[in-house]
Amino acid sequence: MSNIDYKNPNLILETSDLEPGEITWRSPSNLAIVKYWGKYGQQLPKNPSLSLTLSSSFTEMLLEYRPRETSESGISLEFFFHQEANEPFKEKLVKYLESVTDIFPFLRQLDLTIYTGNSFPHSAGIASSASSMSALALCLTSLEHELFETLDDDAEFDRKASYVARLGSGSACRSIFSKAALWGETGEVTGSSNLFAVPMGEGLHSVFSDMHDDILIASTATKSVSSRAGHSLMENHPFAEVRYADAKRNLSRLIPALRTGDLEEFGRIAESEALTLHGLMMSSNPSYILLKPNTLEMIERLRQYRADTKHPVYFSLDAGPNLHVLYPEGIIHEVRGFIEEELKPLCEDEKYLEDWVGNGPEQV
Ligand code: PMV
Repeated sequence: MSNIDYKNPNLILETSDLEPGEITWRSPSNLAIVKYWGKYGQQLPKNPSLSLTLSSSFTEMLLEYRPRETSESGISLEFFFHQEANEPFKEKLVKYLESVTDIFPFLRQLDLTIYTGNSFPHSAGIASSASSMSALALCLTSLEHELFETLDDDAEFDRKASYVARLGSGSACRSIFSKAALWGETGEVTGSSNLFAVPMGEGLHSVFSDMHDDILIASTATKSVSSRAGHSLMENHPFAEVRYADAKRNLSRLIPALRTGDLEEFGRIAESEALTLHGLMMSSNPSYILLKPNTLEMIERLRQYRADTKHPVYFSLDAGPNLHVLYPEGIIHEVRGFIEEELKPLCEDEKYLEDWVGNGPEQV
């Protein structure tokens, strides 16, 4: 593994002549097809993961900065989520910003204000850490470039943003890239690393590059066990080593399937990874279950629909009960008809979100 760490004590400002400014990024969520579940060290993955970058589920974040008015050395942050102050989120972000001051030492010299919000309803039961932490990492990386002109090279900019996003939430490091991204060192992809994700959009078969991912909301209740706790339960998990080997094998099959447009292989891997993730939760000590009865009912109906119609419709799951329904653009009318008729009535408040593979973050 390369040992870049991006610590840079030279990024210190001459604040006397700094003009206040602002930066806005919109950054999407992503859906892992091969999952990251289990970590070590400073947010490093036990196995490589590969995700599709989403589109309509995103965080928009505005970062305002101005020279610090007081001489205190901690992070100075005001924070608004959907126009309202939010103490718990703010505390999390202050802690994170403190943790990256060796990468961005100038943060201590600024008064910062963050205004942020998600495109998806707060109570949709959709994890927002990938979109929000990638949006913040992009704002910070842009801020460095604006203040020091250090990151002219786009690939270097993305790599640093991905590295910084990883420190906030592992899966966030994959949201930086258009279409698809791989995070974790593997012999399958040159330049891959545990420290940052790499783009996988190039060479992606067209059947995947605008693939749909409709998110069926089985429940919006807060998860009983956080992802953080779930990762740490992998440490003494009886199936841990088998799982990491299985993920690597799935990855080595997924990569060629993504290039050749092999939907069947893609679907087999997506579903196996999703059920394995939840199987690992059910076999943790203590064990827990995040799936709801309606999640299972939706899976059964989807598999029946696939068997009856031979349409390439597959599912995935995040660390929660909501079902991601994956299918190519060419069969949208048929699949939406099926979703409306058979799956929507099983959703909480009949709610589902339409999403699809997208082009990655955008500076606004
Ligand atoms: O990024 P974290 O620490 O919230 O972990 C997310 C893990 C999964 O979403 C379940 C899988 C993944 O690879 O995104």
